[in-house]
Amino acid sequence: MPRTVLLTGPELAPEAMRLAAAEGLRIIATPPYLPETELLATIASEQPDAIIVRQGQLTRAMIDAAHSLKIIAKHGVGYNTIDIQAAAERGIPVTIAAGANAQSVAEHAFALMFSVARQTARLDARLRAGHWDKSSANGIELFGKTLGLIGLGAIGSILMDLVAPLRMRVKVYDPYLRELPQRTHVEREENLDQLLADSDVISLHCPLTDSNHHLIGAAQLARMRPGSVLINTARGELVDTQALVEALKQGQIAGAGLDTFSPEPPPADSALWDLPTLVATPHVGANTSEARDRVGLVALQQILAVWNGAQLDPRCVVNRHLLGH
Ligand SMILES: NC(=O)c1ccc[n+]([C@@H]2O[C@H](COP(=O)([O-])OP(=O)(O)OC[C@H]3O[C@@H](n4cnc5c(N)ncnc54)[C@H](O)[C@@H]3O)[C@@H](O)[C@H]2O)c1
Repeated sequence: MPRTVLLTGPELAPEAMRLAAAEGLRIIATPPYLPETELLATIASEQPDAIIVRQGQLTRAMIDAAHSLKIIAKHGVGYNTIDIQAAAERGIPVTIAAGANAQSVAEHAFALMFSVARQTARLDARLRAGHWDKSSANGIELFGKTLGLIGLGAIGSILMDLVAPLRMRVKVYDPYLRELPQRTHVEREENLDQLLADSDVISLHCPLTDSNHHLIGAAQLARMRPGSVLINTARGELVDTQALVEALKQGQIAGAGLDTFSPEPPPADSALWDLPTLVATPHVGANTSEARDRVGLVALQQILAVWNGAQLDPRCVVNRHLLGH
């Protein structure tokens, strides 16, 4: 019997599919965001040896229904949709493709910064609608401004270097960071309130955890500089959407660039859509050909490593603290 890999979403990139074929694997790709009951039924009938999570939730019931399951690999790095505790109770490692999409997400955050600063999305829509706003449009330069990074992992570190040619100063708030990389334009800030008060752009690059839901709420937005910009390519739940809507409506901050939302997608009647200073993209930070190639391959390599009894990079096993080894 060939080993079965269930994939919750579209097929892997060609290089990963070639590796799967060479290894004689059976790949079952489900439609993205399948309703929970349908995905549960598919898992129960296919009995996968590994699951690659692309879109939607992987619940305790689904994990328990997969009796031969040996590994769950996240096709990316945000693993908040997977019940890592339930997996650990079965001795199943949950892996992430650490760093594999970092360059793409950092570039997307950078693109959102420019887009908000120069209102490119709104001006594009206006121009297509027949308006020539040359005399009224006004933007801000990023040159020499201060970027406040919340989280300096794979993505934050790349963005830190991307902004250097713009002579931006970078302040980093990351309570878990062991060592700040040596850069003349980068310094550490232990106090989140101070970071908010000192930055012209705040960009979120930390995971969503049990303790940082609504890390940016009304009080934090009130501490941000007038004329500053918020970028969120991390997770929607890190920001209190209602408070952000109010801050943008009142012009308390100059704008926001969001790639992640809570919920996803936001409802059609969300107050977000009435905000001219918001630039929004549908969680596509990692959607590049290059990142997709790397992420798919890494996920599959992790699965093969576990089946072959090889050691995984501990940084990639997100429930290792629960596995008891
Ligand atoms: N938009 C997208 O498509 C997309 C793609 C990939 C990742 N992401 C999101 O970006 C996040 C960061 O990705 P990464 O690869 O850089 O992760 P990473 O694990 O390499 O880095 C995360 C950093 O955040 C720090 N951190 C943890 N909790 C924090 C807190 N409360 N406050 C400040 N810092 C904190 C950690 O110490 C670490 O340095 C992911 O967790 C994911 O949610 C989004």
